[in-house]
Amino acid sequence: MQHTATLAAGDTLHPDALFDGVDLRRLAERIPTPFHAYSANAIRARIAGLQDALHGLDATLCYAIKANSNVAILQLMAEAGVGADIVSSGELWRALHAGIPAERIVFSGVGKTAGEIAEALAAGIQRFNLESADELDMLQTLAEELGTTARAAVRINPDVDAQTHAKISTGKAENKFGVSIDEARRWFAGSARFPNVRLDGLHVHIGSQILSVEPFRLALARVAAFWRELENAGHAIASIDVGGGLGVRYREGQAPIAPADYGQAIRDALAGFRGRILLEPGRYLVAEAGVLLTRVVRVKQGERRRFLVLDAAMNDLLRPSLYDAWHDIVALVGEPRPRHRYDVVGPVCETGDTFAVDRELPELRAGDLVLIRTTGAYGAAMASTYNSRPLAAEVLLDSGRHAIVRRRQSFEEMVAGEQPARDWETA
Ligand code: LLP
Repeated sequence: MQHTATLAAGDTLHPDALFDGVDLRRLAERIPTPFHAYSANAIRARIAGLQDALHGLDATLCYAIKANSNVAILQLMAEAGVGADIVSSGELWRALHAGIPAERIVFSGVGKTAGEIAEALAAGIQRFNLESADELDMLQTLAEELGTTARAAVRINPDVDAQTHAKISTGKAENKFGVSIDEARRWFAGSARFPNVRLDGLHVHIGSQILSVEPFRLALARVAAFWRELENAGHAIASIDVGGGLGVRYREGQAPIAPADYGQAIRDALAGFRGRILLEPGRYLVAEAGVLLTRVVRVKQGERRRFLVLDAAMNDLLRPSLYDAWHDIVALVGEPRPRHRYDVVGPVCETGDTFAVDRELPELRAGDLVLIRTTGAYGAAMASTYNSRPLAAEVLLDSGRHAIVRRRQSFEEMVAGEQPARDWETA
């Protein structure tokens, strides 16, 4: 039986509305709020859609684990043959633990430590995306020590404006990421000095939540021109990693890039390239597949504004506080109700603990169920226990069934590792 993986538009949900075949109101009677729910079929559909758009190319998806690193989500990726883009030892451990093979893992990030590089070398990952000359030196030293040869790409900073939020823009010259084409050119010219590093890849990632194909075209054109220049100079390029960044729909009217258009931009830019194309999508694969379920604790009429106080907070979903991000909010109430404007807030002791300002919603009361949409990416992954609020549960939905894939953290788990200062020592 085919179950719909998407939710109907609008700010109320019909009582029969299902998410991946699961009635969310009944689910919330079984599982205490707040909790994150993810549709397995929505994720599978996104993977398939992107793979379709790349049909005929030698392309590998390396899911950016940081978007949602729950082991169950990583297992879905592994089952679909998707690899991983990692940025820490923790992510390497998760990827391997979830069954993603090392040869489908790429390692990005400006601050890889010697320990992390050594672990990834020992695991035999596919390639390192290098972001500074110091890192190249470090990789050479460690690979030599281990008696191995590391495969590496240089991350190009193409100085392109991704036209996204400043905090998630990464491809401008003033950002900390990557190196200029001038510097990369010197790396290739001097590659004989790095006998244990096979520098034969290019990498670019210009930012996140990108809604126009133009910045991608611009960045890829610069990378492609450099690839052709390198080939002409005798440096064979085995892989070009085009990064992640594909945007998703957070609110009505937003028009994300169609996968086919994205695929076409890659085909156009890299025409004639015979190596492997790597992609690092994070948000695109999981964001719209996730919702955060929460209940109204109380409605508070303030001096100037009416507050809808939820049992979810900025510790469960940081994006509105950190980036002023819009997330649709849906009242899961069956019957029609008069409408009001609310500031939708959490219980955390900060004014920034606000999900939405002056949002029009049906009249809500304590105990009513509310859903926050498009929380599958950078939701649970960025959660904390601030205000000593345990990490929320996460639930995977799949064709009418559900499974808890992270149980709600207990207080004991929350303080695990903490202890009274007893065993004092001096260094
Ligand atoms: N590759 C690299 C090297 C990255 O740094 C990132 C994301 C990705 C791939 C995946 O990008 P995506 O396809 O998800 O756009 N917390 C922010 C987003 C930070 C993105 C960081 N890097 C947010 O909630 O909007």
